[in-house]
Amino acid sequence: MSDTTAASSAPSAQEERRFILGGLNVEQLRSLSGQRCHTVLDGRYVTILEHRGRIYALDSPCYHAAGPLGEGPVVDIEDIPCIRCPWHQFLVALDTGEEITRKAKPPNFTDDANQVFQPPTYPMQPPSEDSFVGPAVRGGKAVQRIHRTELEEGTGDIIVYLQGVDVIKHRPVRSDVNACHQRGAMSMQIRDIKQRGLE
Ligand code: FES
Repeated sequence: MSDTTAASSAPSAQEERRFILGGLNVEQLRSLSGQRCHTVLDGRYVTILEHRGRIYALDSPCYHAAGPLGEGPVVDIEDIPCIRCPWHQFLVALDTGEEITRKAKPPNFTDDANQVFQPPTYPMQPPSEDSFVGPAVRGGKAVQRIHRTELEEGTGDIIVYLQGVDVIKHRPVRSDVNACHQRGAMSMQIRDIKQRGLE
């Protein structure tokens, strides 16, 4: 987690809230595990990561079932930068927060004549590229909230803007609930503990 500094004067309910990730610039972000950091901004769990020269900030817990989306691998699906949730493999576009779907190939039958289904093995593995047919499709509306970022002039420190509380209230996104809830925090921590081998 990074030290954060909130904006100096209190914004109105409509205004963006500005957070400087004190001392965290792009170089330092790249040097962290997974080239990302997780932090809490105004009670909201947010992940900041760099991908192909662009800084993204998104709600850390997944909109679907509060899985640790922020810890997932970043992948380019066709030309769409995405993050893949480690729990159920859902894809989220990093630029818009939309769900990205692709049509899967028909299920795998061990016995074609009798249509015996081969269930997936556990733990589930990310589907391989040849598991899909057809192009990637954007969901059309954000399900995961993406936060605006920029770099502080002079220091290069990363700045994250959270939308105003009124804006969030009147234009909710599915990830809002988990991003500010204990269950989202729990899933991020469990994932982090496992990755560090401390379980
Ligand atoms: S929790 Fe199900 S896809 Fe993320």
